[in-house]
Amino acid sequence: MNQETVLVTGASSGIGRDLARCFAADGAQLILLARNTEALEALAEELHQAHPSQVRVLTADLSRPGEARRIFDELASEKISVDVLVNNAGFGASGSFAEISLARQLEMVQVNLAALTELTGLFLPGMLQRRRGGILNVGSVAGFLPGPGMTVYYATKAFVLSFSEALAEELRGTGLTVSVLCPGPTESDFGRVARGSKVRRLKTSKMTSAAVADHGHRAYRRGVVTAVPGFQNKLFVFLNRLLPRSIPRKIVRQYNQTME
Ligand SMILES: NC(=O)c1ccc[n+]([C@@H]2O[C@H](COP(=O)([O-])OP(=O)(O)OC[C@H]3O[C@@H](n4cnc5c(N)ncnc54)[C@H](OP(=O)(O)O)[C@@H]3O)[C@@H](O)[C@H]2O)c1
Repeated sequence: MNQETVLVTGASSGIGRDLARCFAADGAQLILLARNTEALEALAEELHQAHPSQVRVLTADLSRPGEARRIFDELASEKISVDVLVNNAGFGASGSFAEISLARQLEMVQVNLAALTELTGLFLPGMLQRRRGGILNVGSVAGFLPGPGMTVYYATKAFVLSFSEALAEELRGTGLTVSVLCPGPTESDFGRVARGSKVRRLKTSKMTSAAVADHGHRAYRRGVVTAVPGFQNKLFVFLNRLLPRSIPRKIVRQYNQTME
């Protein structure tokens, strides 16, 4: 079998960086994408030292419409086919919908949802033609419920969850795998980007990004569609199903409250 090529978006930190490490350990060739070139190059160097695999760095800002197409065209012009697309890049913004700038909310929709959809649409035909590979999307437990205090973020993750599960079903029998990794609170830069200097009133324990990535990588390799890492997160998703729809949103509102 030819060596697998894996494109990881948001590989410059957190879960994406650890997912890249997991796929590199399989012997895959890596394409690392994010805005922070320096961080990507440091990871590329680390992976290159640790594994025999080739690593390529792609600097791209997925909040810019047209960026997904540019990436696809650039790789196609070099005859590079992507076997596994890991749509991990994403960010949140804390605060009520009315107080966060509309520009920031739309940027979030572009990165978390539109770029993910566009990259999937662009790379999927090649995967279908070769009858190998697949897509690992990074959703969130936030995708299972509405999120007052981070309204648009939760809604983008609901899209990622629904889109991934539906696509997995459509592609059943094609030889391709679609998985959606749904982490709960995880140690990474996510909180700093979402909340700046504010802190959540309620504290919960966090998983390490390495443990979350390992769970997602193993789930993808096993063909698991919906992967929720950690007992606490699994319990949360299970209990959420049992409650009337009006209750979880009240709990989430409390959870997302921040203080200076
Ligand atoms: N941490 C959590 O508690 C948690 C929980 C559930 C789900 N998640 C999801 O996990 C994924 C990874 O987040 P993380 O926790 O690892 O946070 P992180 O450390 O902040 O990593 C986010 C990654 O996304 C990239 N990114 C953000 N905006 C981008 C843009 N405009 N263009 C290209 N890349 C961009 C960042 O790279 P650059 O800044 O270099 O561009 C970075 O590599 C996200 O989809 C997030 O929603 C996180």
